[in-house]
Amino acid sequence: MIDNRTFKKVQNFIYNEVGINLTDAKRALVSSRLRKRMMTLNIDNYSDYIHYVENDRSGGEIVQLFNAISTNVTHFFRENDHFIKLNELFKKALDGGAFKYRIWSAASSSGEEPYSIAMTIKDILGNKNFDVKILGTDISTKVLNMCLRGEYTEKNMEKVDVQTRTKYFTRYMDNENNTIYKIDDSLKKMMLFKRLNLSKPPFPMKGNLDVIFCRNVMIYFDDIVRSRLINEFYRLLKPGGHLFVGHSESLAGLKEHEFRLVKASVYIKD
Ligand SMILES: C[S@@+](CC[C@H](N)C(=O)[O-])C[C@H]1O[C@@H](n2cnc3c(N)ncnc32)[C@H](O)[C@@H]1O
Repeated sequence: MIDNRTFKKVQNFIYNEVGINLTDAKRALVSSRLRKRMMTLNIDNYSDYIHYVENDRSGGEIVQLFNAISTNVTHFFRENDHFIKLNELFKKALDGGAFKYRIWSAASSSGEEPYSIAMTIKDILGNKNFDVKILGTDISTKVLNMCLRGEYTEKNMEKVDVQTRTKYFTRYMDNENNTIYKIDDSLKKMMLFKRLNLSKPPFPMKGNLDVIFCRNVMIYFDDIVRSRLINEFYRLLKPGGHLFVGHSESLAGLKEHEFRLVKASVYIKD
C-alpha cells in the first residue's frame, strides 16, 4: 500500500489539479488503482511514480493518472425522474416556440447520461428537424473515448427497456461472442464530446444553455470547488434554464448562489 507521505502528495496533487478530495479512507483504493498504471510503466515504487507524473512535461501522464483514479460508475436513465422532468421541460419549450435547445452533461462518464438525454429529446422530436445540441464533457479521456464509440454491453443495458433498445441501438456480436449495442447515428449527430475540468472555471463556452446535468460528481468536491462551479453554471444558463444535480447532492449547504429549488435536486435560474 502507498505510504502516508506519498499519499498526502497524491491528495494535494489531485485536489489542486481536479478539485477532488481524496479522503484518507480512499488510500487502499488509490493504491490499487495506481498500481495498475505503474505496472504498465514498469515502475514499482509509488513515490517514483509521483515523481514521474510531476516531471512529465507533456502532461500526458497526468491524464493517465486521472483516468486511473476517477470513479466512472453510471447507467442509462439513472435517477429516472430527471428524464421525466426533462421531457416536460423540452415539450414546454417547443410549445413556447423555442427554435433551439442546448443541453450540457457535465461529467458525462462513458456516455450513458448524455445518450439518455438524447433519447428523451428524440422521443419527443421523432424525425422533426430541430436545432438541438447535447454537449458531454469529462476529465477522463478513457470515458470520453467510450462516449465517442457509443457501444455498450448487455450489462450496461440493464436499465434500457426492449422498445428503447430496438429504437436506438443496433445489436451485434463482437469477435469474443459478446453482445454489443451500438447507439444510433441519429443520436450521435446530436452530440459533441469534449474534455473539460470542472474544477477550473471559467469555461470557454458561449452560455445561454437551457439545461445542465451535473450529477454524481460534486460529491467528490469540497464546498470551495462546488461553489465556484455552481456560480459558473448559473452564468452559463439562460434565464429560465435548469440545473440537475445528483439526488445526494443538494446545494443546501452552499451559501451565495442564486438558484431556486424547483423540486428535489432540480434548480432554476430565474
Ligand atoms: C460517478 S461519474 C457520474 C456520471 C454521470 N454524471 C452519472 O450521474 O451517472 C463521475 C464522473 O465525473 C468525472 N470527473 C471527476 N472529476 C472531474 C473534474 N474535475 N472535471 C470533470 N469531470 C470530472 C469522472 O471522470 C467521472 O466520469
